[in-house]
Amino acid sequence: MDRQDPSPYAVRRRKLVPDHRIRICRLESCLADGGQELAEALEARLGIRLDERTADGAISLESLECVGLCGIKQAVTIDDEPFMGRDRVLQAVEDLLRPPGSIA
Ligand code: FES
Repeated sequence: MDRQDPSPYAVRRRKLVPDHRIRICRLESCLADGGQELAEALEARLGIRLDERTADGAISLESLECVGLCGIKQAVTIDDEPFMGRDRVLQAVEDLLRPPGSIA
């Protein structure tokens, strides 16, 4: 099968599942110390609100009650990988938004 010609199932799956999932904890302990501001920065950069997907469906921004990083402020996972600190999270998002093959 030609890999450039995806099956109808693959096309349908792309529409249902985002390429990248950004999850941010919304419990009070994680919102303190900049978590709320980070959530707002992510919304602004992606042009979506929490629990929405970008227009192309490629990135979802999900709010969860605990992402398993309790005790770490601004608990965020991107594609199930933990990211700590506002700057690292925002840089990782910039990396996701960069077109493939472009240089930082
Ligand atoms: S309470 Fe926020 S990650 Fe667990």
